[in-house]
Amino acid sequence: MNDFADKKIIVANWKNHPDTLAKAEQILDSVDEYLGSLNEKELSLVFCPPLTFIEKIGKILNTSHLKHQAELGAQDLSIDNEATLTGEVPGSMLRMLGVRYVIVGHSERRWKLGESDEVVNKKLKAALRNELVPIVCIGERTRDENFKDFLKEQVLNTFAGLSAEEVTRCIIAYEPVWAISTTPGARLDTPESALESIKIIKDTLSDHYLLMASSYLYGGSITSVSARDFLESEGIGGVLVGGASVNKGEFIKILSIAVQL
Ligand code: PGA
Repeated sequence: MNDFADKKIIVANWKNHPDTLAKAEQILDSVDEYLGSLNEKELSLVFCPPLTFIEKIGKILNTSHLKHQAELGAQDLSIDNEATLTGEVPGSMLRMLGVRYVIVGHSERRWKLGESDEVVNKKLKAALRNELVPIVCIGERTRDENFKDFLKEQVLNTFAGLSAEEVTRCIIAYEPVWAISTTPGARLDTPESALESIKIIKDTLSDHYLLMASSYLYGGSITSVSARDFLESEGIGGVLVGGASVNKGEFIKILSIAVQL
């Protein structure tokens, strides 16, 4: 179980940004300063920086006001600790760098890099074996008449072979691909339609495992304008923020919405 069970979680998925470590440090300096202005521990943050910055960012997260409100996450991991796989980074090595969370099955990996449900399933199991908290991305590519069946199948394939206890250790991020800011023609989902999808995901899991994941987040074009509606929604446990998480002004506005809840 993650440490954030009773709080809205904000995951910053930096993808391959910013382009320098200095800029990454500036983002964290601003967040640290903002956290310092709060009265007490009020936020549950996970930062998922590019791999090249991860060790340094991990050290920064261990200091000052970030220490008790922010955790380190990776954006991906290898399917196996032992297999010799050029270019892959196993969960065991991520753990040595202080990583506690890992995004698994992001749609950019599924759709742009051809990562199959089978590979995502192996990565999910590898994350759990390494005692990392998986942030499992689930989402349809288009919201057409088949989207419910699509979601059910993706959930069943992604979670295949997990025990019920393992399912409860996962965070699920519902991220419709059509709503992700980098998808051409992206449009924001509504909390109502996101909740409809989250219900499908929950029902599919509870039918098979009788238990559900620890938290259900929404991701896709979250900005300071859209964050409130999603964060205020009772059935949504937090947000996974891509583009807006590397814009320090925007990101701090999102945090300031979260602390008002
Ligand atoms: P976005 O990205 O907030 O830029 O849409 C979200 C994601 O891809 O995780």
